[in-house]
Amino acid sequence: MQDSVQIEAKKLNFIYGEGTAFEQYAIKDVSFSIKKGEFVGIIGHTGSGKSTLIQHLNGLIKATSGELYFNGENIYAAKYDMKLLRQKVGLVFQYPEHQLFEVDVLSDVEFGPRNQKLPEEVVKERAKESLALVGLDESYYKKSPFELSGGQKRRVAIAGVLAMNPEVLILDEPTAGLDPKGRDELFDEIIELKKSRDMTVILVSHSMEDVAKYVDRLLVMNAGELVLDGTPKDVFKKYKYLESIGLSAPGITYIVERLKKESIDLGDDITTIEEARDAILKYIKRKDKNA
Ligand SMILES: Nc1ncnc2c1ncn2[C@@H]1O[C@H](COP(=O)(O)OP(=O)(O)OP(=O)(O)O)[C@@H](O)[C@H]1O
Ligand SMILES: [Mg+2]
Repeated sequence: MQDSVQIEAKKLNFIYGEGTAFEQYAIKDVSFSIKKGEFVGIIGHTGSGKSTLIQHLNGLIKATSGELYFNGENIYAAKYDMKLLRQKVGLVFQYPEHQLFEVDVLSDVEFGPRNQKLPEEVVKERAKESLALVGLDESYYKKSPFELSGGQKRRVAIAGVLAMNPEVLILDEPTAGLDPKGRDELFDEIIELKKSRDMTVILVSHSMEDVAKYVDRLLVMNAGELVLDGTPKDVFKKYKYLESIGLSAPGITYIVERLKKESIDLGDDITTIEEARDAILKYIKRKDKNA
């Protein structure tokens, strides 16, 4: 289901410490909409406003001005249920240790559904199911979240959000500090979850390779402004512009460009290793045929 608009932002502005000497304009006139079931990536140089922007989406930060709609409802309307919004839009923070606080892993994941006042059996079931989804078995239940590795902490934080059964899952740099294997595993789990629960996923990432591989659409932030909004292919074609704002295209895009200069033309919309492999194989076949 990819037709109905689920999140709509209209001219959002946000200023940290408004009216103080430390005033910081973090979000400037940002407008976009996200459809249900979309997988959207957000990229941007450090300090460009990505984390600030996503914290608007579950109501954690209130825009200084602008409007924000969730499932057609204005979340800044007087009677809007912010608590419910926070359950429907699950946010996994950039530093997951900031969201773990219970004595053990299971209690931590149970916290959300318990707060939703669900029956105790359901709370337990949801927590166990969510931990299984992120690949943590029973042996982790009684561990302190603080004795886990960075990757395991992140998994617990994701499970805690999933246990609330959100419609939207927002992940802020979920793979930072993970090794390539951990990163692939986490993404495989996210893709699986997205499919099985028909969730909308918003991914903030510094990895151009990851966003090229996984997302349907990219929002590009620069100095608080939304400067590009399109498919990864369209966005990465503008790699010279991306470079001017401190970003880049996936590494493979540069290799393909370099080959083109050597008269090996593989096409101009390759952004993943897999696509490059297929294009090279095709190219070789064509050459062989013509030889
Ligand atoms: N709590 C805060 N108080 C004041 N200014 C802040 C605060 N948090 C962020 N900022 C400022 O707001 C701007 C946007 O920061 P934000 O953390 O949203 O960027 P980001 O794109 O997530 O960066 P990163 O890639 O490093 O995570 C930056 O200039 C930052 O210094
Ligand atoms: Mg951030």
